[in-house]
Amino acid sequence: MSGTPTAASPQAASQQAPVSSGSLEPDEALPVQARGLVKRYGEIVAVDHVDLTVRAGDVYGYLGPNGAGKTTSLRMLLGLIRPTEGSIRLFGRDPLLAGAGALDGVAGFVEAPRFYPYMTGRRNLELCAAFDGDGASERIDEALDVVDLAPRAKHKVGGYSHGMRQRLGIAGALLRRPRLLLLDEPATGLDPAGMRDMRALIRRLADERITVLLSSHILAEVEELCDRVAIIRSGSVVYEGSLSELKRTTAGGYQLRTTDDLRALEVCQAQAGIEAVGRTPGGVRFDADEVEVAALSIALVGAGLGIITLASEHATLEDLFFRLTEGDQVEGNGSGPAGAAGGSGEA
Ligand SMILES: Nc1ncnc2c1ncn2[C@@H]1O[C@H](COP(=O)(O)OP(=O)(O)OP(=O)(O)O)[C@@H](O)[C@H]1O
Ligand SMILES: [Mg+2]
Repeated sequence: MSGTPTAASPQAASQQAPVSSGSLEPDEALPVQARGLVKRYGEIVAVDHVDLTVRAGDVYGYLGPNGAGKTTSLRMLLGLIRPTEGSIRLFGRDPLLAGAGALDGVAGFVEAPRFYPYMTGRRNLELCAAFDGDGASERIDEALDVVDLAPRAKHKVGGYSHGMRQRLGIAGALLRRPRLLLLDEPATGLDPAGMRDMRALIRRLADERITVLLSSHILAEVEELCDRVAIIRSGSVVYEGSLSELKRTTAGGYQLRTTDDLRALEVCQAQAGIEAVGRTPGGVRFDADEVEVAALSIALVGAGLGIITLASEHATLEDLFFRLTEGDQVEGNGSGPAGAAGGSGEA
């Protein structure tokens, strides 16, 4: 199907033998349920036991750095490739068993949507609509309007900007009248204005009760659009849950300066509930809940130390993203945000 948008292709999954469906309890109300999703390419484990739950009405962010496994996951959800292991349900249906039927109401594209460059935007949509059937051709004008491409519909796609092609891809997906849109980095490569327009478009779609799962490597974008996220790193989900919950886990870092920081370090290490204690050039840092910080301050004074500063770090979500997606400096002691986040499930 090169030349047409890679909207969920009805025949894709049905050609494959079914994979074990595991213990997943299908729920028609849930747009996406994925359990234990694995995709291996020889030695490479592109996706490693990923669980995802997207609820109706979510604008769900699938966030991770380059090569984390986002596109591969979306390909599996769209039935474009077959998982090595694991199970998927879209509105309770298994794409590996139900084939085209499972993709009813589901549309999207991975990487960039592809079109015939020598045809107009409208003509490309007409081809998509002919493929989709089900009255799709009557929705072309509306889809062009929604993505603000009506004025350019008569122009050849070869002359479209990157942002216009992305929007045309969404228009192509909308022809299927989706209840669930799966979008792979829809705003990547767009300039700031294009990104803003794309975000506004996604918000409009969400307002029309379309559930959206979008992948991104840009935290700010996800933060602005999404209520729930999964953060993927090297094929594994390191956090799935609400963004506000995740933000709360950034609130636990503190910086301390005292009249004797070496002694303060010892007091911190001995104090219950004070975790991830370490020296910094300016003093001591640690993670703790507020209640424990209050107890620590009493212990410090009790040890004869004067407190010069005791300040909350207010780590940004960006810091946390890097901690979750790079290295293991926080995970090492099992008590930092990564440890906390790992346990927070689908809160
Ligand atoms: N067809 C394939 N054959 C071999 N390896 C693959 C294939 N598809 C993906 N991979 C590997 O799987 C891993 C995940 O790739 P994927 O494209 O899913 O990442 P991504 O999160 O979408 O990254 P990006 O942000 O760069 O788009 C990478 O190591 C990639 O090289
Ligand atoms: Mg990708």
